[in-house]
Formats: sequence, structure tokens, C-alpha cells
Amino acid sequence: MKVDILEVRDILGIRKYWKGVDSLEIEEAYELVENSLSPNRLQHTLSVVKWALELSKKHGVEEKKAHLAALLHDLKKEVDKNKQLEYAKKWGIIKFKEDLENPHILHGPLAAYWLEYYKGYKDKEVLRAIAHHTLGAPGMGILEMLIYSADLTEETRNYPQVDKLRQSLYDNLEQGTLACMEHTIAYLKKTKRPIHPQTRLAYEDLKRRTQFAK
Ligand SMILES: [Fe+2]
Ligand SMILES: [Fe+2]
Repeated sequence: MKVDILEVRDILGIRKYWKGVDSLEIEEAYELVENSLSPNRLQHTLSVVKWALELSKKHGVEEKKAHLAALLHDLKKEVDKNKQLEYAKKWGIIKFKEDLENPHILHGPLAAYWLEYYKGYKDKEVLRAIAHHTLGAPGMGILEMLIYSADLTEETRNYPQVDKLRQSLYDNLEQGTLACMEHTIAYLKKTKRPIHPQTRLAYEDLKRRTQFAK
């Protein structure tokens, strides 16, 4: 079943953000996701767009960049896992041995690489936000934090602390992102799953920076 993207945009109230955004890149990005994602994933993606735009207005992040990064963050999520692994090896995207054990974390870096080298996207900030939306990364900038966190807390996410995390992100993007990371790490520990080294590095780095900023 194909989702009518204009209808979904209307349902989610995104059209109001869309009006006045005269950008070929954004129009193209909508086409890309519409042709790459299943209805459920598309709904998630549009919810990330909506929340990322709200947070970008609140925290003074450039809306077009937030719009593009949110739209494209899961672009390669539904590519067959073996293919993801094959392309990640071919494109030199594997950084940790843990990447090989968890191919589901590769879709961000794969999308960023593909957009840069096959579609000619140039904006490094947008590309980094897409690449790092699953694991985070040391030295995250404001757009990276925003997409990482919006992905975890968009309106269709439903877990006990999600409202608290949303409020925290709305109040302070850095502190909110740190809270999102703490939540993810605690969840991984609780479910006895390994913490990826890049997530550890991202968390330690952000914790140091937020403490320093106090
Ligand atoms: Fe993702
Ligand atoms: Fe996502």
C-alpha cells in the first residue's frame, strides 16, 4: 500500500511548516522517502520531522536543515540487512567490530554516504545528523543532538519516561539529549544488551560538555 504523503502531512499538521519552504532539496527528499519507506516507517519519519521542526524553532536551529535531516534519517533503514553490510564494507563505513555484529545501526551512515556521493548533498551538518542519529557521536553539534533526540521521542513513541524526555528536550536541548542517552544506556543495560563503543564515547563527551557549561 502506498501512503498518500500529502494526506499524511496534513494529518500530522506538517503542511503548515511546508508552506513557504521553497526548496527543491526538500521536495526531492520527500520523493526519496516516499519511494523508499513502508507506510509505518513513513509515519515515524513524518513524526520526527514534525517534532524536529518544533524543537528547531524553540532552540534556534536552522529549520531547513532540521527538515532535511529528519526526513532522510531512516532513508536506508529498510534496505536488506545483508545488503547494508555489503555496502558498508564496500564504502568503508565500518568503524568498530561491533558494527559487524549489529548491522541495524548502519542505516544512518549508509544514508549519509549515499546522499553525499550518489546524490551530491553537500551539507556536512545535515549529513552528520543523519549518520549519527542511531548511536550519537563524540562532538555532536546542535543538529545532530536534535535529530538523535527527536527520533527517540517523536509523538508515536510510547514508553514510560517519554513525556519527561520530551519536556527536557524542549527546555534544554543539550540536557535533554544527555537524558535521552542516559535513558538508552539504562535500557540497554536492563535488557542485557551491549552498549556500542560509539554511544559510550558520545555519552561521555556530552556529559563532560554539559557539566563544563554549567
Ligand atoms: Fe534510524
Ligand atoms: Fe528513525
